[in-house]
Amino acid sequence: MPVGPATAAAVLPYQDPSLPIATRVSDLLGRMSLDDKVGQMTQSERGTTTAADVTGYRVGSVLSGGGSAPSPNTPAGWADMYDTYQRGALATPLRIPILYGVDAVHGNNNVPGSTIFPHNIGLGATRDPALIERIGRATAEEVAGAGLDWTFAPCLCVARNDRWGRTYESYGEKPELATAMTTIVDGLQDNGVLATAKHYVGDGGTTGGVDQGDTAISEAELRAVHLPPFAAAIERGVGSVMVSYSSFNGAKLHGHRYLITDLLKGELGFTGFVVSDWAAVDQLDGQRGFTQAEVVTAVNAGLDMVMVPADWKTFVGYLRAAVQAGQIPMARVDDANRRILTKKFELGLFEQPYADRGSASTIGGAEHRALARQAVRQSQVLLKKGILPLAKSGGKIFVAGKSADDIGNQSGGWTLSWQGASGNTVPGTSVLTGIRAAVGSGATVTYNRDGTGIDNTYRAAIAVVGETPYAEGQGDRTGSLALDATDRATLSRLRATGVPVIVVLVSGRPLDIATEIDGWNALIAAWLPGSEGAGVADVLFGDHAPTGKLPVTWMQSAAQQPINDGDGKTPLFPYGFGLTYADPPAPTPTPAPTPTPTPAPTPTPTPSPTPTPTPSAASCRVRYTTSDWGSGFTGTVALTNTGPAAIPSWALTWTFGGGQAVTQAWSARVSQSGSVVTATGEAWSSSLAPGATVSFGFNGSHPGANPRPGSFSLNGSACATE
Ligand code: GLC
Repeated sequence: MPVGPATAAAVLPYQDPSLPIATRVSDLLGRMSLDDKVGQMTQSERGTTTAADVTGYRVGSVLSGGGSAPSPNTPAGWADMYDTYQRGALATPLRIPILYGVDAVHGNNNVPGSTIFPHNIGLGATRDPALIERIGRATAEEVAGAGLDWTFAPCLCVARNDRWGRTYESYGEKPELATAMTTIVDGLQDNGVLATAKHYVGDGGTTGGVDQGDTAISEAELRAVHLPPFAAAIERGVGSVMVSYSSFNGAKLHGHRYLITDLLKGELGFTGFVVSDWAAVDQLDGQRGFTQAEVVTAVNAGLDMVMVPADWKTFVGYLRAAVQAGQIPMARVDDANRRILTKKFELGLFEQPYADRGSASTIGGAEHRALARQAVRQSQVLLKKGILPLAKSGGKIFVAGKSADDIGNQSGGWTLSWQGASGNTVPGTSVLTGIRAAVGSGATVTYNRDGTGIDNTYRAAIAVVGETPYAEGQGDRTGSLALDATDRATLSRLRATGVPVIVVLVSGRPLDIATEIDGWNALIAAWLPGSEGAGVADVLFGDHAPTGKLPVTWMQSAAQQPINDGDGKTPLFPYGFGLTYADPPAPTPTPAPTPTPTPAPTPTPTPSPTPTPTPSAASCRVRYTTSDWGSGFTGTVALTNTGPAAIPSWALTWTFGGGQAVTQAWSARVSQSGSVVTATGEAWSSSLAPGATVSFGFNGSHPGANPRPGSFSLNGSACATE
């Protein structure tokens, strides 16, 4: 029944905002034709859909796949596009508005100039649900500011194998992390943007971490590990759930009636609507393209809206035919429509169908960037302290690495395009920019991407390395999880000078670094920080102490994958690990007393134990070098055991004669009492085999002169010096 424009006199019940939404839905449903209902269950992609299509086919939703943007790709460009489609929807007899869906998964990452927040794995490291809610609000403001009303976020996947290309879209390996971070749903939906809990269910548990693979686990494990975040999101009123491409014990989720209808909608009481993933229905029969039978299977399993990016007109035909043939009960169609329409009424779209551009001014603004920078700071996980935090003044600092000055790398996938890209892709601050701003004129910062030009006059080298952007299956790594050759070459060049190397790892997951970390002075996991790389510098220079905790277990080797807390495997760093600057320095072990031989205790002669020889004056050798700047200097020490016996625990002492004071040290524990300095080994360098050399360094201050210590003693005996 065609209706005229909504006027006060002619307002129909579904057009009356004073009525309960359930009443409005029922009234509208009673007025809808099969074509209206089929259209509401159809989501097409902007690239294959015109406003006239929306009118002609009664399309209920349009989406942008990753990188599918209007021209101009500006907030106004998006809002104008939204309004054009909405005018098409309001030209239909019942004037049912559309929903427009985008992947705003770390900010509104489709629109240049938007604030790009850290990806979820970094947010998991913050352990700060309140922060994540604020990020949800800020994201909603930037999504709504571009005229849009629905984001396919948050991903509540629980990543159990770091080989998975979507590990960074997960908050971590434990359900309680994603569960806690469902606060983002409140941040989004309380500010006018429909959220999507995805991908239901178990995508993070696929065998081998293969994207869209098979999660072969018991239902008990599925319920314990992968389901809780969805239950939490439902508790918070999440409006939509997106089904996973993956399978559960060989059964595709998109056809899984028990998990979608019985469990999600029945047992968990989900009253929003269930949307498919991108052309996911096509996969049900394992053949290319999709069939009416697949549409029947998916809709009868509980899918309410089907994302059909390309041949959605075919879908419309199949769905209509399936209902007319009784393959899909009208009750199922009505249930789907009721769910979809309820969300459209709740969003106020019938009253305000057009883009609300009021929050456009927040897009990429100082407030949101400050929030993003805070999130970057809080997501940094300090894995090895070394000489951190760095002094801001004095001497020279060398910065290198492919991701030191690359906002694209630090933002990762789902940034402007589906896969993301290296390069200066979005406005913001690179890590290098942050470093330069942090030190100002207090120190000299030299940058070279591959480390060319470094020498031992620098007091520190910062290497920002890791992964280049990827998304979904293109990020699956079934082979090595090590650093790439470019990074290894850069690190080798830096390490060759003996300058302490601080590694900042920009990656979407833990990497296989156990064989290299000993040569690194310090290590921070920065994850994928997004547009505000300066937040990394805030931690490097101590403006903010690191507070991040590992959201995933860090492997000792790729062969351990999957490796998760409690599985009995020994990691390099356990789930929840993270150092702070406030950590009390480990007590400097008192040097072991030189052993004195004890007489054989029994008459039966036994060979008296060979006493460990106290190192003779010539049984150790020290090379001591310094590089000076202003009132500071860096000292580098190489201590060699030239004696015949191993030294189980060494302590090297010397006396400063010029008022020097050690300010920070690396690769050894260095303490000072008055003018006497004592250096002892770290846990991994406390003993010295015959002929072995241990190197360590320190930064120090001096009142003007920096005289060389006159002698060095190892466990109380003088060493030769070079
Ligand atoms: C993709 C992803 C999903 C995304 C959807 C729309 O394939 O699996 O996370 O929301 O398609 O872009």
